Amino acid sequence: MSKKDIFVLGIETSCDETAAAIVKNGREIVANVVASQMESHQRFGGVVPEIASRHHVEQMTLVLEETMRRANMDVSKLDAIAVTEGPGLVGALLIGVNAAKALAFAHRIPLVNVHHIAGHIYANQLVQEMKFPLLALVVSGGHTELIYMKEHGVFEVIGETRDDAAGEAYDKVARALQLPYPGGPHIDRLAKHGKPTIDLPRAWLEEGSYDFSFSGLKSAVINALHNAKQRGETIRPEDMAASFQASVIEVLVEKTIQAAIHYRVKQVLLAGGVAANEGLRTQLQKQMKQLPEVELVIPPLSLCTDNAAMIAAAGTVLFQQGKRATMALNANPSLLL
Ligand code: KG4
Ligand code: ZN
Repeated sequence: MSKKDIFVLGIETSCDETAAAIVKNGREIVANVVASQMESHQRFGGVVPEIASRHHVEQMTLVLEETMRRANMDVSKLDAIAVTEGPGLVGALLIGVNAAKALAFAHRIPLVNVHHIAGHIYANQLVQEMKFPLLALVVSGGHTELIYMKEHGVFEVIGETRDDAAGEAYDKVARALQLPYPGGPHIDRLAKHGKPTIDLPRAWLEEGSYDFSFSGLKSAVINALHNAKQRGETIRPEDMAASFQASVIEVLVEKTIQAAIHYRVKQVLLAGGVAANEGLRTQLQKQMKQLPEVELVIPPLSLCTDNAAMIAAAGTVLFQQGKRATMALNANPSLLL
């Protein structure tokens, strides 16, 4: 271990994954542990906040111990502890924030607060070094945003959803198709076996806007299913999945390309849980060939959905910029980027 290597522990508990990870120099994963509670929430068709908090309490210490064990490291050797401050479920965030504060206080280690979306974006640093200016397409269960970054730690939201997030639309449409929660991966899988034969709207919004809207599309799917049922017709779920997915992806990819051209970026990064979508990954790769001078970075599936390596990666940059949290740090469920 060379003297100037920086080891940062990341902690993430904003939703339904209890996660901890150690990242070296902001780019290299040393250990990455994620305890998912998905099964506990599945029968309710969504994340139940109280259940999430309870799971985090039960899992946090175990996940931290497992992370240190896998890294074969002692807490005292850490340079910093980075934790998700928000946005997310307040009761869930609090568990991570308090675990981070306790460890930082007990071992006198600097504490760094991280925005969950900054974490999703910095997951890309674990794959490829960032080149500025860049554009990040963040698509998750709670967010759909186009973010312009002219340098490290500076985020300009140039477009966002006006209603449902992309992942939320996936989950709601999946529910209408009676698929289990979370529905995104199920729709993705079904779409591969279907044809986009159902005519669904694309919400382009005003000329030049990088904003998104998915609630109209979601309603169109529900209406089409309802009307077919009343007429005694059947729509193949595979075809509905393929049609829905085609509509979402077309708008996401087209707006990303337009923004990449307008802002003359060097890189386009894909981030968030919906970045795991195979259709989106393939289509973005294909369309980005129009811009050979712009590098496209897509993280592996395990770094797209919630994890703590991304929090440690973002935390390392903030740590190096001298940013610190005090022991007064609190969970902030509606934290702005
Ligand atoms: O980033 P994430 O793990 O949690 C949030 O911060 O929201 O994203 C979860 C979202 C869920 O809505 C889930 O359905 C969606 O990501 N998702 C997918 C896929 N895998 C996860 N959506 C579409 N296709 C996928 N393969
Ligand atoms: Zn997330």
